[in-house]
Amino acid sequence: MQRKQTSYWRVDAQHPRRSTLLPAVEALRCGGVVAFPTETVYGLGADALNSQAVYRIFAAKGRPADNPLIVHVSSLHMARELMAPSAATDAVELAMRTFWPGPLTLVVPRANHVPSVVTGGLNTVGLRMPSHPISLQLIELFNKPIAAPSANRSGKPSPTTANHVLEDLEGRIDGIIDGGPCTVGVESTVVDMTAWPPVVLRPGGITMDDLQRTLHCRVTLASSAEKANEPVRSPGMKYVHYAPNTPLVLIEGEEITAEDFVNAAVEYKQQGKRVGLLLTDERARDIPEFPTIRMGPRTEPERIANSLFATLRYLDTQGFDVVLVEGIKPSGMGLAVMNRLRRAAEARVFD
Ligand code: TXA
Ligand code: MG
Repeated sequence: MQRKQTSYWRVDAQHPRRSTLLPAVEALRCGGVVAFPTETVYGLGADALNSQAVYRIFAAKGRPADNPLIVHVSSLHMARELMAPSAATDAVELAMRTFWPGPLTLVVPRANHVPSVVTGGLNTVGLRMPSHPISLQLIELFNKPIAAPSANRSGKPSPTTANHVLEDLEGRIDGIIDGGPCTVGVESTVVDMTAWPPVVLRPGGITMDDLQRTLHCRVTLASSAEKANEPVRSPGMKYVHYAPNTPLVLIEGEEITAEDFVNAAVEYKQQGKRVGLLLTDERARDIPEFPTIRMGPRTEPERIANSLFATLRYLDTQGFDVVLVEGIKPSGMGLAVMNRLRRAAEARVFD
């Protein structure tokens, strides 16, 4: 890929001035790819209705072509225009009105004019209205939907600061809007609304409980709902994800004690490995004898989620051969955290 000059625009996150966003809008109009902050993670955006532009997103990220992109909108009207006529069911309307703008992506049958490069050839499209003032205003000024995956190189942890984006993509994208750190820190919940009851394909910023309370039904989680011989519902789920370069070993289970961590760490040390620990604040107090990175308080999974991807990137700067990671309770926002940790550890689970 030919190296390009990546423009950098600093924009006020709370009160983005129109004039500061116009260069990014111009780049999008020219078919360029521009990174921008959302409340979840930074996205890498392009004109969703321009196949050539969307293709550049895949090239910049090194993303497999069959992994569909989320299309970001700034109004319900813009969303409905991207759906098949059959798609706007009562449940979809209710979900849009309740959770948008916010960290929820709805997978619905797509309108014919949505380019197939966006949907990875599927007949559905993932739609989301972000709540971050910069993303909302960017889409409004552009006045067209923006296709945007997370703005990381494929397989790396998602970016929650502009620096993370530049680490991965400087010279490969046309520009970046720096609006400071993202507030949620993990990606949106992706829910397949073509099934009833709806199926959560990726847990995220909106919890299963939130969805169930609003939709008045039991919502299932794809990994447990899916049989091995069924086709993969969300192509993104089959790829390596969120992985730092340092191998992670996830240690999970309610009965795990501080002693179990120490024993596991000693075992690696005896193999001549530099061992680090990634622990909740509570656990870290009990294990002073190994170098430890804290992930936040076990009682506040929202805070753990908020710094999770930055922590995974930071790990790689510490020179460990292996890092033992403490699992947390997989409920509420803890489910989104554990989904990312399990995949970052590539199934190296110690129990
Ligand atoms: O919070 C977010 O969702 C961020 C910000 C930028 O909005 N975006 C994001 O995009 O995380 P990405 O591409 O990294 O993840 C999108 C996920 C993938 O797992 C993809 O397979 C799934 O959503 N997805 C998108 N469209 C789909 C569709 N039509 N059917 C099934 N899965 C879909
Ligand atoms: Mg991603």
